[in-house]
Amino acid sequence: MNLDAQHPLSSGLTADSSLIRAYQGVRPAQTPVWFMRQAGRSLPEYRDLRVGTDMLDACLDPAMASEITLQPVRRHRVDAGIFFSDIVVPLRLVGVDVEIVPGRGPVLGTAVRTRADVATLVSLDPSVLDAGLAPIREAVTRTTDELGATPLIGFAGAPFTLAAYLVEGGPSKDHIHARTLMHADPAAWADLMAWTAAVTGRFLRAQVLAGASAAQLFDSWAGALSQADYVRYVAPASAQAISHVRDLTYLERPADEAADPQEVRRNVPVVHFGVGTGELLADMHAIGADVVGVDYRIPLDEANRRLGGTVPLQGNVDPALLAAPWPVLEAHVLDVLERGRSAPSHVLNLGHGVPPETDPGVLTRLVGLVHEAGRASASA
Ligand code: CP3
Repeated sequence: MNLDAQHPLSSGLTADSSLIRAYQGVRPAQTPVWFMRQAGRSLPEYRDLRVGTDMLDACLDPAMASEITLQPVRRHRVDAGIFFSDIVVPLRLVGVDVEIVPGRGPVLGTAVRTRADVATLVSLDPSVLDAGLAPIREAVTRTTDELGATPLIGFAGAPFTLAAYLVEGGPSKDHIHARTLMHADPAAWADLMAWTAAVTGRFLRAQVLAGASAAQLFDSWAGALSQADYVRYVAPASAQAISHVRDLTYLERPADEAADPQEVRRNVPVVHFGVGTGELLADMHAIGADVVGVDYRIPLDEANRRLGGTVPLQGNVDPALLAAPWPVLEAHVLDVLERGRSAPSHVLNLGHGVPPETDPGVLTRLVGLVHEAGRASASA
């Protein structure tokens, strides 16, 4: 399906941005940079705005979600906004009893442990989201109206990471109940994953249709899985989740219309990211992603080798180094940029989210460094 003519990709507003070009495998003059969790507790303006508002209520308030999304773009001059929301928002909207406990993360009213629990959960109809996602669509539209030529990235949780919260009932280290269920009752597991894919896929699609120029699927906890379990019990549902945006296309006018009037049909780029997933990179790409997000545990040149040298990469500054002395961080960032040059293209990001105690001045300085380094190598 074609995005409508007002969408920032169709209108051309974001189609030639450094982020979208890099996601398409074309290396722009400046390496684009944004940060996972760039919106949030590291920013005093975020902490001020959030006083007295629960996390999920903030996500469902279009004016607040939009303002929080814009804060880090204004402050750091990053090359993309990431929509302020949470992976559990569509679960709440479909009727799951879930809240986000500060300092802990998503906590469920009841854990989904048995075949009967799964049956109760999947009786919640994902199609109610078509109406329920209205505040998300409004927040995205407000945000893209303000962002102009800076692309907005929409996101969703991958089915396994969401199922890990649903089955555990909250945050967990090893996700052992979820991993037990997939083997103990593969049919119930398949029902759970199919339902989760339908819910999270709709959340992602709504953001793209409303104006997001790229989509990122977060499978933060996939690193807990063996490769065999990932391929058999998880990858098909992740492919199903992104199928909700894989059909979305836009027409791009040629750079030189006189020489070549042929419009090019392009798809909305999809990024797939996980933590501790160095062994799964090729499988995570194979679900139909365009770009692979790499955490800080393996260097980008090694990630590129594992992916056969053909996949745009995103990553992978170690968030721990944000609190190290500037020369230490600077050397690390330059090393990440250098290793990123082995891939077809590279979007600089962290290997996981911004820690809440990060000095925001360090992030602003890091953006400057990445842009400077791009200019220096372009003129070299
Ligand atoms: O800036 C951005 O990256 C966009 C916003 C964003 C949030 N959550 C906002 C948020 C994104 C992309 C997410 C995704 C998310 N949520 C993931 C996948 C990415 C990852 O970090 O691995 C996961 C696993 C969650 C679940 C979740 N929600 C956790 C673990 C937490 C942290 C709990 C805490 O207080 O430390 C949340 C809450 C959350 N989501 C916050 C933010 C800004 C903190 C809320 C607060 O301000 O108290």
